[in-house]
Amino acid sequence: MKRIHQILFAFLFIIQIHGQVTNENKARIIILATGGTIAGSGESSTKSAYTAGKIPIDNLLNAVPEMYKYADIKGEQIAQIGSQDMNIETWLKLSNRINQIFENNEADGVVVTHGTDTQEETAYFLSLTINSKKPVVLVGAMRPATAMSQDGNKNLLDAVMVASSPESKEIGVVTAMNEEIFAARDVTKTITTSIATFQSRNFGPIGLIYDGKVSYYYKTLRNPAKKFNIKGLKTLPLVEIVYGYADAKPSAIIAAQKDRAAGIVYAGMGNGNFNATVGKALESASKDGIIICRSSRTGGGRVTLYNEVDDKALGFIVADDLNPQKARILLMLALTETKDKIKIQDMFFNY
Ligand code: SIN
Repeated sequence: MKRIHQILFAFLFIIQIHGQVTNENKARIIILATGGTIAGSGESSTKSAYTAGKIPIDNLLNAVPEMYKYADIKGEQIAQIGSQDMNIETWLKLSNRINQIFENNEADGVVVTHGTDTQEETAYFLSLTINSKKPVVLVGAMRPATAMSQDGNKNLLDAVMVASSPESKEIGVVTAMNEEIFAARDVTKTITTSIATFQSRNFGPIGLIYDGKVSYYYKTLRNPAKKFNIKGLKTLPLVEIVYGYADAKPSAIIAAQKDRAAGIVYAGMGNGNFNATVGKALESASKDGIIICRSSRTGGGRVTLYNEVDDKALGFIVADDLNPQKARILLMLALTETKDKIKIQDMFFNY
């Protein structure tokens, strides 16, 4: 009898040790759900019509049991919206919650499920406001959860692998979709319907995910250690985007002036260019105290300071290689700290 007890005790001890080892080895991941097509539901598996942001977090988690092999996972619903409805209030809520998770050591990494339409903006906002290098992986889907050959489950599994991979320990905020990993600063949605929609037009993906393995090839240097402090903020300064095109009129600039915008990002032609009428309106807005930031509608390359445009005389700054929607985010955050154009320009060249 004593012998049986000894064997049983040894057996239980081994199981307990094994359990501890596997639990200790597994990363703790919190999945924050915000909606989007990854939580989208359609009437049929073959038609493309669907409503984004319908399926709750628990159902998303239950649909991908494979991910528990890689991590201890908890889920939270932060919002339940299509990302075209993403807003500053939800950005602040999301960023504050992630900062709290890392401050309290509640997790080793965070995955954010998110619509693809504005995912690049949320990713960049988080990369500028989260005070931790721990992985924050944004993920979405181009096909709703109810579609035949939907991409959401695989993307979610991959995102959990990225967040829990030892290789990602200091990676900060990234987007992982379609087996590719992109830096938050550089990723952009490039195609309206393709599952390969995310690209970094200037620099490519920083890593790849395949067969359960996460591999990085390079890391961005444009990820400043000092983050913007958003604690206690309820909103951000108003920054509008004005689009440039042949024979454009100044009405959108005048409207932004009337709305007392603190900044205008001008999505210019080519290297951030404008016609004479728009140039005059931008100059007048700049004299009115509005920060004018020239960016480009081309979708690639940099907007260069003091080239074709005399930025010094006009009082303009440039977005460097940030696209207009990301330039707006940096300008809104910069304006929470300073109105000094030299300091803000410096941020555009370094963040
Ligand atoms: C959205 O951004 O919420 C809709 C589109 C998508 O998720 O792909």
